[in-house]
Amino acid sequence: MSDLKLGDKAPNFDAETSEGKINFYDYLGDSWGILFSHPADYTPVCTTELGTVANYKAEFEKRDVKVMALSVDGVESHKGWIKDINETQNTTVNFPIIADEDRKVSDLYGMIHPNADDTLTVRSVFVIAPDKSIKMTLTYPASTGRNFDELLRVIDSLQLTAYNKVATPANWKHGEDVVISPSVSNEDADKMFPKGYKVVKPYLRTTAQPELKK
Ligand code: BEZ
Repeated sequence: MSDLKLGDKAPNFDAETSEGKINFYDYLGDSWGILFSHPADYTPVCTTELGTVANYKAEFEKRDVKVMALSVDGVESHKGWIKDINETQNTTVNFPIIADEDRKVSDLYGMIHPNADDTLTVRSVFVIAPDKSIKMTLTYPASTGRNFDELLRVIDSLQLTAYNKVATPANWKHGEDVVISPSVSNEDADKMFPKGYKVVKPYLRTTAQPELKK
């Protein structure tokens, strides 16, 4: 059972997928990545989830994020199910789905939670930065489909805060004010945020969202 934590290096692997054999790091290149598992092919919630991800292709591309899905079903099962996803979700699945029949990747990433189900993967998500460090994880049960708008919102925050000394407050959305990191002194903040900032409390300083820099 893997115990990957934020900041850990995402393990590399080779896997059979619906798009052929893929090396994970080669697939990611210098982009951000999302690796997400679902319990099983030909199931209703998973069908809507993978269709949603396919329909968000432009949103992921805009953020330079490469997506890869996983379940413990085989390649032929994935290929047949993809036709159903495309038909019912009005999309074209445009990312590889790992066929993890031997659970190699599921075990590497701790995607099987035996007390929930000892054979199927739960709904795990790993967001991986270009340096291959894990920036976010989440785990949902089989019965609850994930909110992919929330995932995009988190990626916006991760990308903004990776390159600026700011953090994003509760319910923040792209374009809204952010908070200045507590590690930044007022003297440095004066230089870093020339458009100014508001001191609500000495530890709570807000400023307009900076431009995304890389
Ligand atoms: C679903 O995707 O609908 C699902 C998969 C496994 C268990 C329960 C629901």
